[in-house]
Formats: sequence, C-alpha cells, structure tokens
Amino acid sequence: MHAVDIIIKKRDGHELTTEEIEFFIQGYTRGEIPDYQAAAWLMAVYLRGMSDRETRDLTLAMARSGDVLDLKEVAPVVVDKHSSGGVGDKVSLVVAPTVAACGLPVGKMTGRGLGFTGGTVDKLESIPGYRTDLTPEEFKAQLAHIGIVLTGQSADLAPADRKLYALRDVIGVVSSIPLIVSSIMSKKIAAGADGILLDIKVGSGALVKAVEEAVQLAETMVRIGTQLGRRMRGLISDMNQPLGWAVGNALEVREAIDVLHEGGPTDLREHCLVVAAEMLALGGIVVDSAQGIEMAADAIATGKAWQKFLALVEAQGGDVATVEEPDHLPQARLIEPVPAPGGGYLQKVNAAEVGLALMDLGGGREKKEDPIDHAVGVVTHYKVGDEVQAETPLFTIHANDETRLAAARERLLAAHTIGPEPVEPLPLFYQSVG
Ligand code: URA
Repeated sequence: MHAVDIIIKKRDGHELTTEEIEFFIQGYTRGEIPDYQAAAWLMAVYLRGMSDRETRDLTLAMARSGDVLDLKEVAPVVVDKHSSGGVGDKVSLVVAPTVAACGLPVGKMTGRGLGFTGGTVDKLESIPGYRTDLTPEEFKAQLAHIGIVLTGQSADLAPADRKLYALRDVIGVVSSIPLIVSSIMSKKIAAGADGILLDIKVGSGALVKAVEEAVQLAETMVRIGTQLGRRMRGLISDMNQPLGWAVGNALEVREAIDVLHEGGPTDLREHCLVVAAEMLALGGIVVDSAQGIEMAADAIATGKAWQKFLALVEAQGGDVATVEEPDHLPQARLIEPVPAPGGGYLQKVNAAEVGLALMDLGGGREKKEDPIDHAVGVVTHYKVGDEVQAETPLFTIHANDETRLAAARERLLAAHTIGPEPVEPLPLFYQSVG
C-alpha cells in the first residue's frame, strides 16, 4: 500500500477501505507518512467527505493509535461527557460529582481552554495542588476507589488526533464533519466510557453558530458512537451568552461550588440538572430524564454531590481547605464594577467577545502552551431579556493589571447591546439527539 494511492483515491471521491484508513493513520502516527502527504489527504477528506463507515474506521484507527483504556475491570458502566466548548461553561465541575454521587462512575479526561473558549483543566488548576496529569493507571485506580476522575488528557491518548489536529489548524480544514467527529470520538472511545453525553453548544460563544449545523454534528457523533457500541445522547444548548454569571477560572470554580450548595445562577443550575439527568439515564440509573433531574437535585440538596467533589479534590492532590473556603481561591487585585451606559433591555451579548475579554485580562490563551492567570475574569449581572437600570453595574471585572482591565472594559461594553425594545430570554436547550 502507498500513501499517494490513498490520497489519489480520496481526491477522486472514492470510498477508502478499512485497511487503507488504518494504514494511513498508523503510518502518519509513527512518522512514516510525512506531514505534506497527511495535509493533502486531509484536504481531500475535507472536500470529498466520508461515509459513515469511513468516519467510523477513522475514529477507531485514531483511537487505537495510542492507549485505549479498558474500564470494564473498574465498573460495569462508566459515563463521560463532552462539551463542544463555550464561555462560562463550568458544567463538568458540577455534573461529574453529582452523577458520581448518584452511584454512577464518571471518568473524564478534559481539555484546556483555547481562544475564547474555556477549558475544565484550567478551572481545576485554580485549586492549589490539584493534579490534572493522572496516568492511565491512576485514572483507573481512582475511578475504582471513589467513582470519579476529572483529569487532563493523557499524552498517549489518541496521539494521531494531536498530530492531525495541529495540521488541520494550519491548512484550513478544521470545520469538516468527519474530521471533527473522528477527532472528538477517537478521544472519547480511547478514554473507555460506555456512555457519552454530548453537550453541543451553538451561538455567538460557540464554535458552531447555527442550530442545524450543531444538530448535524451531534447526529453524526451519536450514530458513530452507537455503531462503536457506546450509549450516546446529544443535547444542543445555547451559547449566545455566557453560561452562569462567571467567566474566568477561579471565579467559575467558585460558582460551581455555589451550585453544589444549591445556590448559583438559575441557568447554570438548570443546565447542570438536565445534563446530569441525561447521563444518569444513559447509565441506566433512572428510567427517564424527569427521574434523573429529581435524583440529581436530591444529590445536591443532601450534600452528597458536594462530598463527592471534596473526595475528588482530595484524591487528586488539591487543597480541600481552599474549596471549603472559596475566598482562599486565587483572587484578583483589582475588582471594578462597570455601570451600564444606559437603561433598557439587554438584547444581545456577543459571548465570544466576553471570552476574548478574559484573554485581554490574561485568563485565556492563544497557544496551548501560554501561561494563564487563574484569578482574573468577569462576572456578568444580566441575562438577555433582563431589564437593565442605567448606572447600575452591568458586569464586574476582576483584573491584576490596569491596562488589561481597560482593554477588557472596552471590549465588554461593546459586547453588550442594550435597547428600549424588550426581547425574549434565550432558551437553555434547542433539542436533544439520540
Ligand atoms: N474539538 C476537538 O477535539 N476536535 C475537533 O476537531 C474540534 C473540536
């Protein structure tokens, strides 16, 4: 078999065999197929697309390019979730301990923030000492012991995806359904869970801007995951404004802690209950989402979810005293409430710009290796549809540098549209898939 023949076959619009896909992916991972041939092949896939069978083979080949965790020896059913990324998305911090507290093990490898989207690993790292570099052996041992793991992606998980994603990024082929699906699903398959809940965000603060596109992506992922023997479900959720109030790593941990104590913003609380309920249904713990919501709410109300969160922090080396007393989380030096420039209704928020304001403050990153300031961020005070009083704080900025604060203030003011006409509040979810 020759790489060039496989490139030509896809270039001419033909379906690749399982063996050809396997040959190409393993050859590229081992460095036997060079970047320029992989780039040509990716472009051919981008332009010609892939059948479901090819996408499934590509997913499996990428998953098998590194470690594949077998969690059967740990628990009969383990669930995981994937969010397509957004602004203020701290859902995993609430949902993982809530679901685990209901007796369903949650094993999750999660990512860092990039560009305007935040990442759960960065949020967790605002807890002093919290380790996000568990080995596969530690992952399994902790899952068996306390039924919950939230860690970064192990270096040997789907290495083909790491190489291919970096290449896709610089040749303009990120936005291809078979390439996105195989990239996400290969990592999820390798991480070993039986049930996977997809939270696909759509809107100004998401990578996907249109509901139809999000549905197509979710449907393909659900189909491919199901064909690979996983229990799958997808939720299409709104990301036209930040989720909850807080955007910024330590601020978001604090907000998640509030929700685990039955407080926090209503939208975040409701979003978390729905996601937790769907995971419980996927794991066969409840018969439907209504029962799941009840069980998840009960786990929070009785303090079991909070106890599970504390067990998680302790198991991964985090300072439990800090989360018990969140004032000890990293705090910014400058805290500035910014008044609304005028009264009316909050009509629109450009959520991506709110994410970029976090980058202005130093709390997000442009490149994967950039350091970040965990203390900084923004706390918004209104949701779309709310009436806004002139001169009352529209949002509060937490900063460690005056110049950065000024840049974020300007960007955030421009990101909020206030007008005289009332508008409907935004939905939390658009639909479910699977
Ligand atoms: N996230 C991923 O992991 N891969 C993609 O291709 C897109 C988003």
